[in-house]
Amino acid sequence: MSVTQAEFRRAMGCFATGVTVITVDYEGDVHGMTANAFTSVSLDPLLVLVCVDHKARTHAHLHSKKRFGVNVLAENQRNISQYYARPGDTHQRAEQEAGARFDRTAHGTPVLYGALAYLECRLHTAQDAGDHTIFIAEVEDVVVREGDPLLFYRGNYRAIGAPSESSDSTGTKSKTSQHPS
Ligand SMILES: Cc1cc2nc3c(=O)[nH]c(=O)nc-3n(C[C@H](O)[C@H](O)[C@H](O)COP(=O)(O)O)c2cc1C
Repeated sequence: MSVTQAEFRRAMGCFATGVTVITVDYEGDVHGMTANAFTSVSLDPLLVLVCVDHKARTHAHLHSKKRFGVNVLAENQRNISQYYARPGDTHQRAEQEAGARFDRTAHGTPVLYGALAYLECRLHTAQDAGDHTIFIAEVEDVVVREGDPLLFYRGNYRAIGAPSESSDSTGTKSKTSQHPS
């Protein structure tokens, strides 16, 4: 039985994710790309991966700069996600159109204001896989803030709901933290 691309996308859409914007310096400007094919890979050393379409402009920028930021978007940053998912946008309009403002790290990597978390990454390995490249990168710095994430599920943006119950990631009920219903 062969699976169509539409069926594959529908199935993958059931896997709820957060949303990131990959940021890279491009000739002194900020180049950003919305990405949810992002995950942690290793704790020792600290590695993450992001999968980037060969056709995305970001693909060439990551190969040439070898250093990039992963900005985990907060719930109120949907406009920024939409802005950086559009092909062909000039990034000078990011602030006027989506309210995206940036700082720079000591390495010159762009950092998005208001993101829930930021990881500064240095390219480790790039592995082509079909029409995408898996960029594996070493994490050099992180910043984490309070707040709720922007989510992506079945092709739509979502907000996180109330906690369903007090349990940790293994299902063990917590005795100390009780959420009133
Ligand atoms: C929620 C969401 C997640 C996305 N995730 C990815 C991804 O992980 N990898 C990718 O190559 N494109 C992804 N895209 C598509 C890119 O954001 C889009 O193709 C973008 O225009 C590429 O920009 P660029 O050509 O400036 O690099 C995603 C789009 C959305 C809306």
